[in-house]
Order: sequence, then structure tokens, then C-alpha cells
Amino acid sequence: MNNFDELCTAFLEQIKPSAVKDAMLYSFSAGGKRLRPKLLFAALESYGICAESGLRLAAAIEMIHTYSLIHDDLPAMDNDDLRRGKPTCHKQFDEATAILAGDGLLTEAFYYGATATADPAKNVRIVCAMAKAAGANGMILGQALDLEAEKKTACALSELAVIHQAKTGELLTLPLICAAIIADRDEDIEAWQTFGAKLGYYFQIQDDILDLSVSSEELGKSTSDLHNHKQTMATCLGIDEAKKLAEACYEELNQLCDKLSQPEPIRAILLTLHHRRR
Ligand code: IPE
Ligand code: IPE
Ligand code: MG
Ligand code: MG
Ligand code: MG
Repeated sequence: MNNFDELCTAFLEQIKPSAVKDAMLYSFSAGGKRLRPKLLFAALESYGICAESGLRLAAAIEMIHTYSLIHDDLPAMDNDDLRRGKPTCHKQFDEATAILAGDGLLTEAFYYGATATADPAKNVRIVCAMAKAAGANGMILGQALDLEAEKKTACALSELAVIHQAKTGELLTLPLICAAIIADRDEDIEAWQTFGAKLGYYFQIQDDILDLSVSSEELGKSTSDLHNHKQTMATCLGIDEAKKLAEACYEELNQLCDKLSQPEPIRAILLTLHHRRR
């Protein structure tokens, strides 16, 4: 994917030596689908803007995402041992280093977001969007509700949809909204929000189906939803019903794509997600 990984490594290499720097580089470079950067590049492309102009912002968004995974895997959260095909950050290093590596990635992300484009006014809007998506009304809220739901014996599907939208949808919507900001297309933001929320719902239902049906070796990450008493579409409805729901979401996402002036780049990403096994 262009020179995204090399650039991000160069950014993180600038940090002064410490175990936290090593842990940040370890988790960031462990692999991963780079879905959120790809969404930014595709949305920019749909506006006729070259992907290169979104590289700093893509790095920032992937740093936030990687931080969210490091903290999600901690013993106090999902307590998982495998991530991106490797031991989780706290297993490879230790808990304190993993907490700080997450904090470090989140904080660095705001530096790259604040300097994402040559236009300071756009950078302010981008940073606000980053804070909103990652913050206590965004991904953090979703993670909080996800953990609270572990203690419940049942969860309404509407509650699950709210959790998915927050913990997963917010960071998938972020690159789409930022593309509209960069392209001076404020009038598109609402449509991207609708699309991103649905995409988060779809992506998390798939994630929860995979957790129950694919080996952790193939997934490259631990499977722990049953053990953790997670309330998910797959654990609540069963895999077959969850698959039907995912299929319906996929159709809806494709219909939403029809409304985009240049749908091909985003549609291509949807297609890669459709049959994903990790
Ligand atoms: C995993 O995200 C966390 C969820 C939102 C389900 P990804 O599946 O995008 O993780 P990577 O980046 O490919 O490792
Ligand atoms: C986590 O959802 C979403 C995040 C905000 C990191 P999961 O807990 O289901 O993600 P995985 O399965 O560990 O990747
Ligand atoms: Mg989790
Ligand atoms: Mg998890
Ligand atoms: Mg999962």
C-alpha cells in the first residue's frame, strides 16, 4: 500500500530509545489490514485527490487504532495473548510498557493529525474529529459499554448496535469524514457518517462471527468472546442468524455506495471485507 508502512516506521523511529518505543513499533508494525488508512485513501480517491496527500493523517488514524488494540488486549480488558499473528504487546513486553505504548501511540497520533495538511484550519477540524471519534463519546464509550455488557445475562440487539457503532464504527467513520474535510465537501459528512456507522456494525458482526468460527491461528488473534461472556450478535443470535444480518448489512452498504459520485474505490474495499477470514 504505497509507502504507508515505511513512512509510519520512520515517524516512530524518531522517538527516543526506550522499551515503550520498541513496544509501539512492535505492535504498529506487526501487520494488520490497515483498513482505516485504506478507507481514507479510497475516500480521497473518490474525490479525485491523490492518496499521498492523506499519508500523515492515515498514520495518525492507524496509530489510534493500534493503541485501541493494545489496550483492548490488556488483562483488565479482553485479556488476550495473540494479536496480528504475534504475542500481544503486554505479553511480549509487560503490562506497564503496553499501557504506555498505547498512550504513546494515541498522543503521537494527535501530533500527526495536527500537521496532517498544509491548511491549519483543516488540521483543527481533523484533530477535533479525531478526538470525537476516539474519545469518551466515541470508541472509549463503546469499549466501556462492551465491558459493562459482559456482566449482563442478555442484551437487546439495539444495545449491541450502539456498542458496535461506538467501539468500531467511530474509527471507521473517522477517515471518511476527514476525506470530506480535506476535499472541502462538508455537505457529504452526514452521508459518510451513515455509511461509517453501518460499516462499523457490519465489520463488528463479522468480527464476532469469526471469533466463534475461525481458529486463532488463522485469525492471527485470540478468540475469547465466549470465555469473556461478550454480548455479540454471534453469541446472542447464533452464527447463522448473525451471518444473515451481516449479509443484509453488506447489501445496504452497497446501496449506500450507489449514492457516492465515484463509488468504485470504496466498493472495492467492501468486496475485500465480504469474504474476509481475519
Ligand atoms: C480489530 O480491527 C478490532 C475491531 C474493530 C474488530 P481490525 O480487524 O481492523 O484489526 P487489524 O488492524 O487488521 O489488526
Ligand atoms: C474491539 O473489539 C474494538 C476496539 C475498539 C479495539 P474486539 O475486542 O472484538 O476486537 P478484537 O476481536 O479483540 O480484535
Ligand atoms: Mg474488546
Ligand atoms: Mg478484543
Ligand atoms: Mg473480536
